[in-house]
Amino acid sequence: MTGAVGQIGTELVQALREKYGRDSVIAAGHTTKPTKEFRDSGPFVYLNVADREQIARIVVENQIDTVYHMASILSAVGEMNPQLCYEVNMGGLYNVLEVVRQHKLERIITASSIAAFGAGVPRDNVPDDSVLLPSTMYGVTKVCTELLGQYYFRKYGVDFRCVRLPGVIGSETMPGGGTTDYSVEMYYAAAQGKHYTCFVREDTVLPMIYMPDTVKALIDLACAQNSRLTHRVYNVHSMSFSAGDLAQSIRKGVPDFSCEYKPDYRQAIADSWPRSLDDSSARQDWGWKPVFGLSEMTEDMIEKLQQKVAK
Ligand SMILES: NC(=O)c1ccc[n+]([C@@H]2O[C@H](COP(=O)([O-])OP(=O)(O)OC[C@H]3O[C@@H](n4cnc5c(N)ncnc54)[C@H](O)[C@@H]3O)[C@@H](O)[C@H]2O)c1
Repeated sequence: MTGAVGQIGTELVQALREKYGRDSVIAAGHTTKPTKEFRDSGPFVYLNVADREQIARIVVENQIDTVYHMASILSAVGEMNPQLCYEVNMGGLYNVLEVVRQHKLERIITASSIAAFGAGVPRDNVPDDSVLLPSTMYGVTKVCTELLGQYYFRKYGVDFRCVRLPGVIGSETMPGGGTTDYSVEMYYAAAQGKHYTCFVREDTVLPMIYMPDTVKALIDLACAQNSRLTHRVYNVHSMSFSAGDLAQSIRKGVPDFSCEYKPDYRQAIADSWPRSLDDSSARQDWGWKPVFGLSEMTEDMIEKLQQKVAK
């Protein structure tokens, strides 16, 4: 797995190790200093996805058959540094696809994002096959990810599979610079008894997904029977709520939680994204069904984060 120490990678590595065994999953992270806990949980290697030789070496030395490609620069960081975003997201994907093709690996699974949509798209219930006109560099790289993966599938038979994810909320690591980070930050602030200043308006509604469902979606799509797949890229939807709804939900468990709203440059990014997705193909083709809604997620997040804070 590339991007293994990221927000999703950290929990996906853990889930895959539970499923396939500790030594069957090689965590490749863009850091020389993973936490002790991470290092102790199984094999770890350093990887910069800009280096194709390094990817190929890791694949050959470890007899890799499947790549989960999670290395990426996210939306907010990407708008601060579009050149880096292009290099990592496009260069990294191209290198990984080439290694998958040249070494005849079985499969590549990766994540696109609601950022792939943009102006001219209805904001609700957006279908899989929609117009993709993103206004951010991150969105542009996600559209290219989807198109390049589908090209490799058609041209070379590479088994490319991709989920278009909403904003991801998880308790294990802080998010990596995306526009939906406010949701995770709000939970952290509440668990620490702190006031939170939210960087989008209170009425900003975005689609979100809890980490256990995110991990489930990626693994279920990876394991789905190829003949059942009618798409290479699938929308997955879970829940939609406003920043204000989230604060209200948190107050049910943390009544003193206080929050104010001071939108910054990320508001424009959020405003260009849809509020909900039509994920009926994922449901039909590979049985996608999320487990968590807003209240179940809030209960679980607050409990986990309060335990962390107490340690
Ligand atoms: N988190 C979300 O809300 C969200 C939503 C939709 C889609 N996604 C997608 O899911 C995937 C994983 O995202 P995440 O939330 O874990 O992001 P993250 O930022 O937490 O993790 C990405 C990882 O990529 C690594 N990375 C950066 N440059 C690299 C390089 N040159 N070589 C190798 N690794 C490098 C970073 O070190 C980081 O650990 C990405 O494709 C992202 O676009 C995430």
